Amino acid sequence: MNDLSVNIAGMTFKNPVTTASGTFGYGEEFLDFLDPGQLGGIFVKAVTGKNREGNNYPRMAETTGGMLNSVGLQNKGVDIFCRDIYPKIKTFDTHIIVNVSGSTVEEYVEVSERINELEKIPAIELNISCPNVKLGGMAFGTMPDMAKEVTIAVRKVYKKILMVKLSPNVTHITEIAKAVVDGGADVITLINTLLGMAIDAERRRPVLSTITGGLSGPAIKPVALRMVWQVHKAVPVPVIGLGGIMNATDAIEFILAGASAVQIGTANFIDPRVGLKIIDGLGQYLERHQISTIKELIGALKTE
Ligand code: SIN
Repeated sequence: MNDLSVNIAGMTFKNPVTTASGTFGYGEEFLDFLDPGQLGGIFVKAVTGKNREGNNYPRMAETTGGMLNSVGLQNKGVDIFCRDIYPKIKTFDTHIIVNVSGSTVEEYVEVSERINELEKIPAIELNISCPNVKLGGMAFGTMPDMAKEVTIAVRKVYKKILMVKLSPNVTHITEIAKAVVDGGADVITLINTLLGMAIDAERRRPVLSTITGGLSGPAIKPVALRMVWQVHKAVPVPVIGLGGIMNATDAIEFILAGASAVQIGTANFIDPRVGLKIIDGLGQYLERHQISTIKELIGALKTE
């Protein structure tokens, strides 16, 4: 058997395949399709301080090679997460990582503090990259000073593994990455969605109620690979890569670029079992190349 396990900031993942926040619910919605314990980890849907209804419909649009969303961080808030959702998912035999979102530094801190109390949650993913909200979200992730400030504030109250999810909607991704690492991030996850829009020419109107939204899917994979590669070289912490991964070959490309693990996002909407197929495919790749452990491939891209 080839070894698919990876170590990220002291956490052992049984394999490097995880699911991206917002594409896999809280995991329980997928129980008819798979055992979540087979995945390396699950990044659950965004959790904010209070209930959020999200943006008006339409808030999803199919585009060439991708998908636009402007969900707007719809969720029931941290109280309901801790009281009703956490007890149902805490027994999954995999790492459950909570995507923490907010409109203010205080909200990020409040939610992180609450999640810190949950024994079976070993890490949070600080989402400073949502492009679909008027306050907070991506606004924190596009300026190094603000990215660092929110990371420092959360670092003070969050005692476990702190992952920070970056936005690709910046000129210099490595500046933001360095800022959050200076602020105390243990891991960087990237990329969130690229800001885009779709137009209905017949109606002469935008397709989304919010006019713009976040683009995901295969269309963004080259951008994501480039950013994972740049950030992996620029900072001393592990990187988890995402952006348009549809199959095992895509996942291998991210790992070669420097990702210690990957998140599967849009592909879950097409095939809820895609994560398991990718795990199988990674094993076959190791077999075919006679490599005993996937760790050997992390950042192993040959550039000379
Ligand atoms: C959303 O809820 O609008 C998407 C979440 C995100 O992009 O972080």
